[in-house]
Amino acid sequence: MSETIRVGLGDRSYDIHVGEGLLAQAGALLAPFARGAVPVVTDSHVAKLHLDPLIASLTRAGIKTVPIVLSPGEGTKSFAGLERLTTELLRANVDRGGLIVALGGGVIGDLAGFAAGVLKRGVDFAQIPTTLLSQVDSSVGGKTAINVPEGKNLIGMFHQPRVVIADIATLKTLPKRELLAGYAEVAKYGALGDAKFFDWLAVNGAKALAGDAAALAHIVAHSCQMKADIVARDERETGERALLNLGHTFGHALEATTGFSDRLLHGEGVAIGTVLAMQLSVKLGLSPAADAARFAKHLKDAGLPASIADIPGPRPGAEALIAAMAHDKKVKDGKLTFVLVKGLGHAFTSRDVPLDAVRAVLSS
Ligand code: NAD
Ligand code: GLY
Repeated sequence: MSETIRVGLGDRSYDIHVGEGLLAQAGALLAPFARGAVPVVTDSHVAKLHLDPLIASLTRAGIKTVPIVLSPGEGTKSFAGLERLTTELLRANVDRGGLIVALGGGVIGDLAGFAAGVLKRGVDFAQIPTTLLSQVDSSVGGKTAINVPEGKNLIGMFHQPRVVIADIATLKTLPKRELLAGYAEVAKYGALGDAKFFDWLAVNGAKALAGDAAALAHIVAHSCQMKADIVARDERETGERALLNLGHTFGHALEATTGFSDRLLHGEGVAIGTVLAMQLSVKLGLSPAADAARFAKHLKDAGLPASIADIPGPRPGAEALIAAMAHDKKVKDGKLTFVLVKGLGHAFTSRDVPLDAVRAVLSS
């Protein structure tokens, strides 16, 4: 059983297929887009677990493949990683009409998507996300990028995939901590625009996290539908798409002040960041305190960190966090831009949040 969600972007529209066991059908799903030998870009963790079934499926569909296996980890999303990958893609003779397949988490999807965007001025690519975070967020919407010492995702482009294939069976091999990190982005969708979905998560989220296929398929499909709708209305983030960044201003600052290290995964930063954004909304008199408390409790019950105190090691201080945010976003007249909520499920952007309110939330 699988479900298909359409991202409506005119002649760049594409389908997201969500279901269990879709790797076995990937050959048939990719056949309409495949021309010549198809490079399959992945990392060594994912290669061990999921590359062979994908290659077998493509071979059954008559598609020749060229596996390209990179090192796992954020460090691969770099100029060095891009140089290595584009060199291998050129050696594989990918031409302008070719297709590149990204099999892996957000690191592989972001890097391979960017490489596809710049290779020979633009080649098609397909996303086969294998982490919960990449299935519900990074594989959809066409943001591709690499990191530089000046910051994360600063060199990149919008390049939409031709198709996304999310096989939720691949999540069975995902470490629990990574699964939870992806779940933070799922809960974020409820907080930003769908209180009913959050109610559903409150009842069924634990089942999904325990591996229930139907529950997982529902959270992936529903999250993708929400993102697809937003991206179709605002592909280039001139407005509404910014709401997808709920919790990210705080989250990025927490990641930066903990050194982008194993102390805090991106999704864990988003979990704490979304709680902080909701608490800031309460402080500004915009949102009921009960909603922020309910959201935080749900994350905590799921096993996610939900407050700054939950981060192992020394607590990042309010001033260091504010400095990291100011680096991220321009402070104007002592005010910062934030995504806030008017209650669970109702996010909006505010350009004039007083720094003192932010400081108070970070210190509490
Ligand atoms: P990741 O790609 O680093 O994957 C996390 C770890 O899980 C890696 O070690 C990987 O090898 C391993 N892994 C992947 N799939 C597995 C599986 N099925 N079984 C076992 N292990 C598996 O991390 P991520 O959380 O998927 O992605 C994070 C990246 O995504 C960041 O670079 C972030 O900037 C980016 N991102 C991009 C967007 C976007 O819109 N483009 C959105 C959110 C995040
Ligand atoms: N992950 C946020 C976005 O795609 O806009």
